[in-house]
Amino acid sequence: MKKTLLIFIIFVLAVLYLPLPSPRKKTPEFDVKTLKFPEEFYWGASTSAHQVEGGNHNSFSMWEIKNAGRLAREAEGKFKDIVPDWNAIKAEAQAPANYVSGDAVDHYHRYEEDIQIMKSLGLTAYRFSLEWSRLEPEKDKFDSRELEHYREVIRSLHAAGIEPFVTLWHRTSPLWVAGQGEWENPETVKDYLKYVDYVTSNLGSDVKYWMTFNEPILHILSGYIEGNLPPEIKSYKRGQVTLANMTRAHQQAYDLIRQKDSQDQVGSTLAVVLAEGYPNTLINYLVAKYIERRANHDFLNDTISKTDFIGLQYYSPGYFAVKFGGKYLFHIEQVNKAKSSDITDMGWDIYPAGIYETIKKIYSRYRKPILITENGIPDREDKKRAEFIKNHLYWVHQAIAEGIPVGGYFYWSLLDDFEWDKGFWPKFGLIGVDRKTQKRTIRGSARYYGEMIKMRQ
Ligand code: BGC
Repeated sequence: MKKTLLIFIIFVLAVLYLPLPSPRKKTPEFDVKTLKFPEEFYWGASTSAHQVEGGNHNSFSMWEIKNAGRLAREAEGKFKDIVPDWNAIKAEAQAPANYVSGDAVDHYHRYEEDIQIMKSLGLTAYRFSLEWSRLEPEKDKFDSRELEHYREVIRSLHAAGIEPFVTLWHRTSPLWVAGQGEWENPETVKDYLKYVDYVTSNLGSDVKYWMTFNEPILHILSGYIEGNLPPEIKSYKRGQVTLANMTRAHQQAYDLIRQKDSQDQVGSTLAVVLAEGYPNTLINYLVAKYIERRANHDFLNDTISKTDFIGLQYYSPGYFAVKFGGKYLFHIEQVNKAKSSDITDMGWDIYPAGIYETIKKIYSRYRKPILITENGIPDREDKKRAEFIKNHLYWVHQAIAEGIPVGGYFYWSLLDDFEWDKGFWPKFGLIGVDRKTQKRTIRGSARYYGEMIKMRQ
């Protein structure tokens, strides 16, 4: 009997650790001129308020001040073995100031200059977020000067022929919202709706595209499950309560916006996960598929009936493995694949066909129009960015050619930006920014993207 059990266990383990193939699609050599995009396709770039504006006081800025020293001390341990060139980023990554957003890249004051650069490149759309903490610094006290600021940004975009795409919440909350327990507190749903009402009543006639939330699932993961970012709560259960409230907030905001203007288009953005086991054994594969299902569908399943478009954000595949030990007998870990030459400055794997695979998966389930609201690469030398954009657009085009309605592509980010707990060292920008002088430099890849856009118009 004992022997049979042992053989059975060995058999099960052998099956679970069976290596599986990891098929990868190669991007062929091609001439960009041959890619025909629809006339009305939006060519854009994205930012979020806290990451570029500067001068914000919100849930995240408080956290930065508390954690900057620790993040600087931990940088070597976290990144040295992952990034392609630790020496190139070392000084920045080990300086506490890197982790404090401060005046960021001063987009708040320099938006006009930035919009003119977008115009010169031929961009037709700009996705940015409104900073709730500016518009409502105290509960129920709205600041009309800040409203005027955003009105001016939107006016200036229209004058430049650029369509505004507005995110209503991109990770940061006013301090009074954080103080009342953020999204875990149902009161925040009511407050959010008042804020949305204020914004859409005042700016609604000039904005057609709204995003209620940026990546709600990633917020739950980093804020409540891993708990390493604000509000730093390590509780699965509380994360689920929070998610339920964000889901309701989306549904009600959708109704509110659409009641005011039935032509408006409302969606949210999804950090789409393309998960693989690493190594790709059966057990890791199953875990990866589980993660993919939860990350891609937990929010969308419950909001899809109140969604006009899905904002899909894709950067890189995620690799997962079951590891023994930890609090329980085993746990799931996101792992780093062995370094290859095809990685970004942050060590992320570059896999352009992944954008196509995720578009197909999401579309086949939800059948709603898709916008690529983020896709980008940290690349301080600007050696890989042009190729990155070109190859990802190849696969976006492929999806369109197969009949999937993908309405636009927004590169992340328009400017070098504040990358949350990584601070300023990763350089995502089409436009490089020297933070000492705030001088803008249009990178070669931005000009390449501009050429691609002009070829298509
Ligand atoms: C977020 C951005 C972030 C980007 C690159 C996305 O998940 O929406 O705020 O900067 O990834 O890290």
